[in-house]
Amino acid sequence: MIYIKTPEEIELTRAASDLVSRTLGEVAKWVRPGVTTLKLDTIAREFILDNGGKPACLGYHGFPGTLCIEVNETVVHGFPSNYALREGDIVGTDCVVELNGFNGDSCYTFAVGEIDPKVQALLTDTKASLYKGIEAAKAGKRVGDVSNAVQTYVERRGYSVVREMCGHGIGKSMHEDPEVPNYGRRGIGPVLKPGMIICIEPMINLGSKNIVIERNGWECRTRDRKQSAHFEHTVLITADEPEILTTFSYIEESLAASDTDQK
Ligand code: MF3
Ligand code: CO
Repeated sequence: MIYIKTPEEIELTRAASDLVSRTLGEVAKWVRPGVTTLKLDTIAREFILDNGGKPACLGYHGFPGTLCIEVNETVVHGFPSNYALREGDIVGTDCVVELNGFNGDSCYTFAVGEIDPKVQALLTDTKASLYKGIEAAKAGKRVGDVSNAVQTYVERRGYSVVREMCGHGIGKSMHEDPEVPNYGRRGIGPVLKPGMIICIEPMINLGSKNIVIERNGWECRTRDRKQSAHFEHTVLITADEPEILTTFSYIEESLAASDTDQK
């Protein structure tokens, strides 16, 4: 069952989306070699609580973090830990915030210091594929059009699409219908209508598409242990252009500021 949000519900989801975006903007200030992923998690949790929100992943089916931490070959659902980030790593931070009963969901994959140009290209291209998917998310089109836009963009560049995990609707719950796969045929799936809110979140691998779930039942990595990238926005379908409710602008401001600090 796909909900069409009322204007009030849209406002509430917009506010939750802004808070999750600002949270990742805080996290961005801390990403550098030597920082543990638990530290990033603490920054996110405290920021959300200070702003009246609830870290929605924390305790969700027993998940132990505010952030899902995705270092290098980790695709999704990694646990925050004592692992200290190293120069050359990439780290995805996926976060859901609940605010006044509604949720916003976003993910950004960061480079830690200088990284391999091939891995930097994976990040750039995965982020671009997210925007390709968003462009396709117009009222009257179908979920398959979004899926196909992402898949076509990344496969042309030689990457592979993780099959087991999808984007999703969002609102009162962090996961609502419809499922939004990152692969599939154009013209299939539910029709997109104004007032739907969906999360589009390509999970794209440098090597093969195959994944392995660790024995804790959560942490998911690439089978070949090559890097995987993940970017996500919460997106409102409107009568004309889709509206992105989350934003990476807080992250980009933080990254630009830490760049000038280093020079
Ligand atoms: N943010 C993830 C998503 O995009 C969900 C996190 S799963 C959790 O769907 F268990 F950690 F909450
Ligand atoms: Co999501």
